[in-house]
Amino acid sequence: MSLKYAEHHPKDVVQALSGRAGGALEDIVSLTPIGEPRRKITTATLREKKLHHEPISCLTAYDYATARLVDEAGIDIVLVGDSLAMTMLGYENTLSVTVDEMLHHVRAVRRGVKDALLIADMPYGSYHATAEEAIHNAARFVKEAGAEAVKMEGGEKRVDVIRRVIDAEIPVAGHIGLTPQSVNVMGGYKVQGKTLQAIEQLMRDAVALDRAGVACIYLEGIPREVAAMITAEIETPTIGIGAGPECDGQVLVIHDLLNLTFGHPAKFVRHYGDAAALITQAVLAFKADVASHQFPSDGESYHLPKDTQAALTTVLERKRALRR
Ligand code: KIV
Repeated sequence: MSLKYAEHHPKDVVQALSGRAGGALEDIVSLTPIGEPRRKITTATLREKKLHHEPISCLTAYDYATARLVDEAGIDIVLVGDSLAMTMLGYENTLSVTVDEMLHHVRAVRRGVKDALLIADMPYGSYHATAEEAIHNAARFVKEAGAEAVKMEGGEKRVDVIRRVIDAEIPVAGHIGLTPQSVNVMGGYKVQGKTLQAIEQLMRDAVALDRAGVACIYLEGIPREVAAMITAEIETPTIGIGAGPECDGQVLVIHDLLNLTFGHPAKFVRHYGDAAALITQAVLAFKADVASHQFPSDGESYHLPKDTQAALTTVLERKRALRR
């Protein structure tokens, strides 16, 4: 049990320890620690942070436990990215993931997030045909899964639809540069904005999204110099991934940060931990303990109460006597 829990819930703890909460301490499978209270992050907070030059942090999360850890660590934005198509579902790219698959993950993340702003990615095909369809799908993320904003890829060409979704009271995060849902059009995952023409288009895309009133703009896979120009030009906070340090914030896919992505990492990825090694080590140790009968130990087993044990022994002895 953590000290933090005891500080926040002295009565619960005393009850649990004295057995008055409904069972002996060994019967309580888990006690959930409660984190420190923190200010709720909203779309307005992102703008405030840009104004005050305070960097915005964002990580992806796709499940309850990870979302909870990310939120309790004080990350500003939790993004349920459609990157989950690859990281969680093993698809080759993001194109096949559906609205229903995304909703399943957003609901789980919602249950783990208290303070961070929760943004859900709109998957490919869910906002490309009509504004009505985009509003319908975006509203599902808000009503059925508790998202506080949705993210859509594309700049100028998507801005009319984005405006309509914002008019329907749903905050939108933009995403320009290397947009993974355009992988077939781009001919692979290539750094964007390397020619004057491409820079001009990116700037037009950023300004169009800025004027439409998006909550933030993800800048992915573009030269640092271009990201710096865009960030200085617009009022909307920019969140970079492979876009250099001048963006207003930074995002990483949590599987990249934890070395859980299997392939060769992109240049911008920094491993802050090695979950692959940790998981493999733990799994191998468990396997070895099971094979050698080292797990579980007596201390990891539940026991009968003394009086039940005595009564059981008496019953068994009587049965044995009758058989003789
Ligand atoms: O899907 C995702 O995880 C993303 C981030 C990389 C920005 O879009």
